[in-house]
Amino acid sequence: MKKELLSLMPEFRLIEDPELQEKTITVWIGAIKKGGWTIDALHQMPFTLLIEGTSVNIIEHTRAVTLCSVEIAEVMVEEYKERISINRDYLLAGALLHDVGKLFEYKRDKGKFVKSEEGKLLRHPISGAVFASQHELPKEVIHIIAAHSKEGDGARKTVEAIIVNHADFVNFEALTI
Ligand SMILES: [Fe+2]
Repeated sequence: MKKELLSLMPEFRLIEDPELQEKTITVWIGAIKKGGWTIDALHQMPFTLLIEGTSVNIIEHTRAVTLCSVEIAEVMVEEYKERISINRDYLLAGALLHDVGKLFEYKRDKGKFVKSEEGKLLRHPISGAVFASQHELPKEVIHIIAAHSKEGDGARKTVEAIIVNHADFVNFEALTI
């Protein structure tokens, strides 16, 4: 499963800290197993249930959000130099895991992806943050997952969380028009 996941999402390899890289992959594999999914099912899982019939799957979305986050960070560091501090590894791990909770929020009913019972109670920022916490991801990464959607509105956010939050929304809103 690890090899398949790495070829599907090579961005895991961009995390430089080997321990953080391993934990980030472990959370994804654990979520696939806990949710009862297969790699094949991930290709079919829509990245959102809010855009009826979207063909963008959760893997494509996660990769796009991750790569956008890295680009934003690189431009900001280039322009603002020492006036901004961004932890690239936390940013990458947070972006790669921001929607992992959707593997619990969704279920498949007669072939159609719908909200699971758990998903009706806990949206993915919460379930993803809890699951990553159980795998001892750093608090800075848990924060990015927990605050990346409306759950983080009005809350103090780290620079990494702000970047992932906006990269996520640009990758959502741009596909709604
Ligand atoms: Fe997302």
